[in-house]
Amino acid sequence: MHQAPGTHIIDGKSFAERLRVDIALRAAKLKAARGITPGLAVVLVGDDPASDVYVRSKGKATREAGMNSYEFRLPASTTQAELLAKIAALNADPQVHGILVQLPLPKHLNTSDIVNSIRPEKDVDGFTDLNVGRRSKGFSNAIIPCTPLGCMILLREVCPQGLAGKTALVIGRSETVGKPMADLLLRADCTVTIAHSKTRDIETLVKDSQADIVVAAVGRPEMVKGAWLKQGAIVIDVGINRVNGKLVGDVDFDSCLGIASAITPVPGGVGPMTIACLLENTLRAAGHAA
Ligand code: GUN
Repeated sequence: MHQAPGTHIIDGKSFAERLRVDIALRAAKLKAARGITPGLAVVLVGDDPASDVYVRSKGKATREAGMNSYEFRLPASTTQAELLAKIAALNADPQVHGILVQLPLPKHLNTSDIVNSIRPEKDVDGFTDLNVGRRSKGFSNAIIPCTPLGCMILLREVCPQGLAGKTALVIGRSETVGKPMADLLLRADCTVTIAHSKTRDIETLVKDSQADIVVAAVGRPEMVKGAWLKQGAIVIDVGINRVNGKLVGDVDFDSCLGIASAITPVPGGVGPMTIACLLENTLRAAGHAA
């Protein structure tokens, strides 16, 4: 990967590594001071290979941070009642501070009811209605979903002067990335536009927006072109698409070099921050535990 003059390639991988070292230190302090070892329970239903890879890497990162990892692999035939019972047991377990139910769930399960059965204090994904509502209202006790949290940490890193007053365009309106990202940018006093898969003529919208910050999270490989951007824009690429065996983002990376002032690569940009933020949310949940 070559670096054109003027475009800073945001090294999410090494930033996430530093964050994880810091989290491990704080976890060790929590243990020494209060005898609490943070514990994260990850529940996987079915045998989707991609989900299996995610669950493994979450477990490994959790253990490397000195936290306890509890992995539960349930068969695809698991019923709603069985899964609710599993979550109820984890809700009641004082060793478990964070609960993550890997999505997507098999189609016969009601995802909303499952997610909302997680105690909000243990909802380290920030997906329960209560955490969504708290986030939307800007309450400080909201647990923020890991990927948008990671994006905000990277943005603050490249904008030490602050985000207030900047124009931001979020492409994507998912509950997991687009919507929370827009909430957080608004909370940071940005002027926010949300585009999505049904937006007409997205090229013209991006060009006309002259956005200082562009967050791409639509799941369309290399859709956003450098020529659409304002000179000096900051580009956060949340996309993970596999094209002919190669991982690419939602942004045509090479075309942005020399135009963007900073950009996250795929892989090695936002992805590693997501897991680091899951550990951060778990550590905070443990710190708040009685
Ligand atoms: N599947 C893909 N990404 C995620 C995530 O961030 N959380 C959960 N629970 N499932 C996912």
